[in-house]
Amino acid sequence: MTHRMQQYYSDRVEEYEEIYRKPERQEDLQTLKALLKPEVAGKHVLEIACGTGYWTRHLSGSAKWITAIDLNAEMLAEARRFPLKNVDFQRHDIYTLDQLPGTYDCILGGFIWSHIPLEKIDRFLDQMRSKTTHETPIIFWDNRYIPGNSTPITYTDAKGNTFQNRSLNDGRTYTILKNYPDPAWIEAHLSSYTVEFTQLDYFWVMKCQYR
Ligand SMILES: C[S@@+](CC[C@H](N)C(=O)[O-])C[C@H]1O[C@@H](n2cnc3c(N)ncnc32)[C@H](O)[C@@H]1O
Repeated sequence: MTHRMQQYYSDRVEEYEEIYRKPERQEDLQTLKALLKPEVAGKHVLEIACGTGYWTRHLSGSAKWITAIDLNAEMLAEARRFPLKNVDFQRHDIYTLDQLPGTYDCILGGFIWSHIPLEKIDRFLDQMRSKTTHETPIIFWDNRYIPGNSTPITYTDAKGNTFQNRSLNDGRTYTILKNYPDPAWIEAHLSSYTVEFTQLDYFWVMKCQYR
């Protein structure tokens, strides 16, 4: 995580879950929860970039155990405020997953794909691979770019990564990497995986499994 993104999420902790109260996104959020619960049922789950633990809380009742990781200490402190008996929150980088012991029955990552620079996707996928078996579903979900609803893209770098200016409630602003993947790019790039890509109104969901 770049220093800038680290700072942004540290400063945003208290207002982070406001995104989950946007009225127009409620139906999609219910669809996502209904889709994820059976995927984690009875499983030992690795949730990457868990943030404030919004999804951890919603899924802990269905999973057997969730190991939930994030690099940001402030995000993890917020997540740990809600006592969950079958969850282990750990400070860990998504680019060093091979340092976590064992493999998992399911891997989840909400709203993290968009923050991975395109040039780091291969390294990230290799790390994921070290934590899966052929039976492990890997599920990512993230934002679709909806003109008029999404924060505008202000800059695209030479590698095709896109950036937005984000503001906090007190007016502080940050330039943040936010990629919106093209489903065709994903299918071509994840050729070692079977990929099911679904678009909701505001979000996309991708379920992958190593071939
Ligand atoms: C948009 S938030 C998503 C939080 C949570 N998954 C959710 O859906 O509400 C992105 C999270 O990714 C974390 N993050 C960014 N880069 C990371 C990295 N390299 N390793 C671990 N966590 C990272 C940030 O700290 C932040 O909590």
